[in-house]
Amino acid sequence: MNGNEKNYEDFISTVSHELRTPLTSIRGFAQTMLTSWDKLDDGSKKKFLKIIEEQSNRLINLVENMLSATKLSQQKESIILKEIQVKSVINTVIQVVKSQYPDKIFTVKSDRNTPPVLADRDNLTRIITNLVENAAKYGDENSTILIETGFCGNDEFVSVKITNTGIGIKEEDYDKIFTKFSRLDNPLTRRVQGSGLGLYITKNLVEKTGGKISVKSTPDKDGKFLTTFEVLLPAGNIERQARSKCSM
Ligand SMILES: Nc1ncnc2c1ncn2[C@@H]1O[C@H](COP(=O)(O)OP(=O)(O)O)[C@@H](O)[C@H]1O
Ligand SMILES: [Mg+2]
Repeated sequence: MNGNEKNYEDFISTVSHELRTPLTSIRGFAQTMLTSWDKLDDGSKKKFLKIIEEQSNRLINLVENMLSATKLSQQKESIILKEIQVKSVINTVIQVVKSQYPDKIFTVKSDRNTPPVLADRDNLTRIITNLVENAAKYGDENSTILIETGFCGNDEFVSVKITNTGIGIKEEDYDKIFTKFSRLDNPLTRRVQGSGLGLYITKNLVEKTGGKISVKSTPDKDGKFLTTFEVLLPAGNIERQARSKCSM
């Protein structure tokens, strides 16, 4: 088996597993509702529908990531860069991720001088979704996910930082997590589902947009780790950039 076949096999088996888990759950809850409708109280019905919604969101996200991965490898896609307020994308993403991780608190700190970014809206949504979803997924229970946007220190880029407290990432793994199918071997990663595709796609999309992505994980005073992913995206509106002052 050559390297490509091996990659393809890995891809199919990861994706099949990732598709099967939410589909099985959706089918199970739908069947229960159909067969036991009269016996279920309103609270249970609502809870089951919520699970169906969450699992559908998970499927949609996976399919979107797979489509992005295919487009990346084909390099056919011509992307249209437009000026977009990153905060509007962040707010939309939070609504979706919040429904899947209701124990998390999402806080947005947006410097009012943040100019629009020059990006493709679908790609930008994908970038932010993957990072916010990871922060919620790998963040401590009931913790806060902080999302900051700013225009600081550099005239060309808008910075988007996503921070969570949790298990953290060792420095020697910083590069590894951005490669295809890589998941870190720790008890948390083993417990939560994932394909290892998210950050690989995210990095590719950020670079396609003309930006950069980096990660930093440092212990805080309680021995927990603060993990921050920072994305720098090209700012639109050159005039406004020139007038803007850093206030973060
Ligand atoms: N905020 C985070 N805190 C700790 N580990 C993380 C975080 N984000 C990503 N990781 C690690 O990086 C790996 C790769 O992430 P990703 O490419 O999104 O794949 P997935 O989430 O599907 O596992 C994860 O499996 C996890 O081990
Ligand atoms: Mg992920």
